[in-house]
Amino acid sequence: CGIVGIVGTGAVSERMVDALKRLEYRGYDSAGIAVIENGSIVRRRAQGKLDNLREVLASSPVDGTTGIAHTRWATHGVPNEANAHPHIADNVAVVHNGIIENFAELRAELAHEPDGFESDTDTEVVAKLLAKYRREGMAPRDAVLAMLKKVTGAFALVILFQDRPETLYVARFGPPLAVGFGHGEMYVGSDAIALAPFADGIAYLEDGDMAIVDRDGVEFCDFDGNALSRPRQPLQLASMMIDKGNHRHFMEKEIFDQPEVVSHTFGHYCDFAHGRIAVNGDEIDFSRVSRLAIAACGTAYLSGLIGKYWIERFARLPVEIDVASEFRYREMPLSPDELALFISQSGETADTLASLRYCKQNGLKTGALVNVTGSTIAREADAVFPILAGPEISVASTKAFTCQLALMASLALRAGRERGTLPVEEEKTLVHQLSEVPRLMNHVLHTVQPQIEKLARDLSRFNHVLYLGRGTSYPLALEGALKLKEITYIHAEGYAAGELKHGPIALIDENMPVIVIAPYDRFFEKTVSNMQEVAARDGRIIFITDERGAAASKLETMQTIVLPDMPEFIAPMIFALPIQLLAYHTAVFMGTDADQPRNLAKAVTVE
Ligand code: G6P
Repeated sequence: CGIVGIVGTGAVSERMVDALKRLEYRGYDSAGIAVIENGSIVRRRAQGKLDNLREVLASSPVDGTTGIAHTRWATHGVPNEANAHPHIADNVAVVHNGIIENFAELRAELAHEPDGFESDTDTEVVAKLLAKYRREGMAPRDAVLAMLKKVTGAFALVILFQDRPETLYVARFGPPLAVGFGHGEMYVGSDAIALAPFADGIAYLEDGDMAIVDRDGVEFCDFDGNALSRPRQPLQLASMMIDKGNHRHFMEKEIFDQPEVVSHTFGHYCDFAHGRIAVNGDEIDFSRVSRLAIAACGTAYLSGLIGKYWIERFARLPVEIDVASEFRYREMPLSPDELALFISQSGETADTLASLRYCKQNGLKTGALVNVTGSTIAREADAVFPILAGPEISVASTKAFTCQLALMASLALRAGRERGTLPVEEEKTLVHQLSEVPRLMNHVLHTVQPQIEKLARDLSRFNHVLYLGRGTSYPLALEGALKLKEITYIHAEGYAAGELKHGPIALIDENMPVIVIAPYDRFFEKTVSNMQEVAARDGRIIFITDERGAAASKLETMQTIVLPDMPEFIAPMIFALPIQLLAYHTAVFMGTDADQPRNLAKAVTVE
């Protein structure tokens, strides 16, 4: 969910909706705002995307200079209007991101409160508790502190009391929250992007912080009410400018951004003039590390899986990798001579953050590979490696993925050098190969598009798709399937090509196309054998390969997409593009919302 609040000098409703637009990536099941209008709390809410709320506000405007707003990703309660935030009890309005874990217990306790419950959400208990404490005579600050003692779980909360029309009470335990400083105005928001156009400074709440925000500034305290200070940092507006340019969707723009942003990443981590990797981060010394653990979610996890292949190959360092929701609970033995890396575009994913904290408790050094450098994961890790992709708006990750790969490749080579497993000459050759990535990406983006558009039309007729790959093309097959299911809702599976015969081969028929990712590498012949197995069962093959691969394979395919020849090391970064484009064009052809696919959110701050 995304949260915004403004204590302003002028009307806030339109500005809050604009800020919600920038937070819509956090969820778009419903949206709502509440402002103080002529001394009373008034609220407007709408199910579905933000445009629905805009329509409600157009026909039924609100006028106020203090307000709170929310865009929802449903956890408790279906995404209808009654469950949309803000939630109101008596004269208190609340917006919330996270999960109140003891809500059932609190709801039972509050069952006899006046007016009953109007929603199925966990959040409404917060409003009810606050209303009850106020009726019992508590001042707003005391009521908030008392409420914070009662609730358990994860929350970012912003609270507006009708009798404090120029003050917002905010609290954080888990999901991120920041306070923005303006000229005679103050703001709160889930992230810096939401606040970028208004605020020129920002201060982040830490877990266990409460803050009281009014027009004159902010006071921080802990949940016992003891004063705290939190540093104010400048907010760089220029880097937050976001628009689609000439593209139909952010996803398309972000796919086409890749040659440029990946070259920024390499520019930061590679010294091309000397053929050396130049990754800073003295906190980390790969030569002293006995094992590397990686935790991440979704697409970030898949970039870590490709990183594992590179790090084990070039640095001879064993790598354990897990999705963060498993990593944090499976009680793997860890020791302080190990290093743990966490990959997260947003830097806020709850499971990844919990895995980081778990490793820190076990005495491991930690490194964060993030896009958002002000994020919680970046702030808590010992070393931060920005991926430098620029703001990624589309829910399905594209440029963050290839920038994560660019950084992982650089880290693998640095680890190889530090561990003495990568001779200087080989490092030079590999760094030179990295320097070719942006050019090859550009070439691919400008040559394969027409063919992929045609293929997308064919693919849209199928309900099931299988992606196969071997070596680093295996995680890429998983990513291809993930992209496709995320935005087209076609059921897609990614499999290691060699595993085909251990199960999925039973599904092969003319109704289940098989997309094979096979650059002409060490495994090419093996993958072609797996393709033979598909062909022998009347399976339709879509073959994504390079020129040498296309020349070497004699199999009949539904379509073959031919990329230029390239070294094996860099192939995953280039082969990522046709699979992204294929998912994107299939979504466009099928008419799904490529940027905001159903049920998903970009930053998942609940576990
Ligand atoms: C969500 C997004 C994915 C993303 C994953 C991890 O599921 O829809 O695109 O890969 O979260 O997010 P993170 O911000 O940690 O990379």
